[in-house]
Amino acid sequence: MLVIAHRGASAIAPENTLMAIEKAIDMGVDGIEIDVHGVDGEVIVIHDRWLHRTTNGKGRISDLSFAELRKLDAGQGQQIPTLWEVMSLVSGRCSLNIELKGISDVIPILRLVDSAVAELGFSPNQFLLSSFNHHLLFEIKQIRPDLQVGALTASCPLDYAAFAVALHAYSVHIELNFVNPAFVADAKEKGLQVYVYTVDELPDMEMLASWGVDGIFTNVPDRALNFRDNPRL
Ligand code: G3P
Ligand code: MG
Repeated sequence: MLVIAHRGASAIAPENTLMAIEKAIDMGVDGIEIDVHGVDGEVIVIHDRWLHRTTNGKGRISDLSFAELRKLDAGQGQQIPTLWEVMSLVSGRCSLNIELKGISDVIPILRLVDSAVAELGFSPNQFLLSSFNHHLLFEIKQIRPDLQVGALTASCPLDYAAFAVALHAYSVHIELNFVNPAFVADAKEKGLQVYVYTVDELPDMEMLASWGVDGIFTNVPDRALNFRDNPRL
């Protein structure tokens, strides 16, 4: 079962910061998950549309310029990172799941992925582009069928993982409250990887491993790695 750090090692460092990502990589995670928004043609790494929860700023991301956003404190003196900074930090060390949140145009993301492959030594399949906005994933696959996309859902649809097949997705990412053995079996039968978010408690990790889930997003990667690498007999 892959261990993917949710917003970095976000239980011990400010989420979606270079510090949280560095700490997760140090723990030995298989991948990092981050959330991204577009602003002024740049791509920044932050979860919410509003600034107050994770920074010392106020208002919406869209109320501030890129330069103003970069002056904010995202916790423990960390800046809101750019996607390129995260790519540079992660390169050659683990995979990177870029979750598209406040993104209306996929082109800047695709340009950054291409630059990371050309300049940082990433291989394209070390990236996974995911979103709850399936229209964005559809668009990415139209432009770049070679890139891996992950279809997010916070529901257990009537036809299970069929939506992810329609998107030619590599993986389906389902919320912990709604995943069940029937969903996992259906997705796997359809050739999809099944990742579950957000999994922080050991009994949930045990349950999902027993169902054959392929990966989990967790705020506590050290706990998940310890479970994964030392399973109870
Ligand atoms: O990508 C998995 C998970 O991060 C999706 O939900 O709200 O934590 O971004 P959220
Ligand atoms: Mg996310």
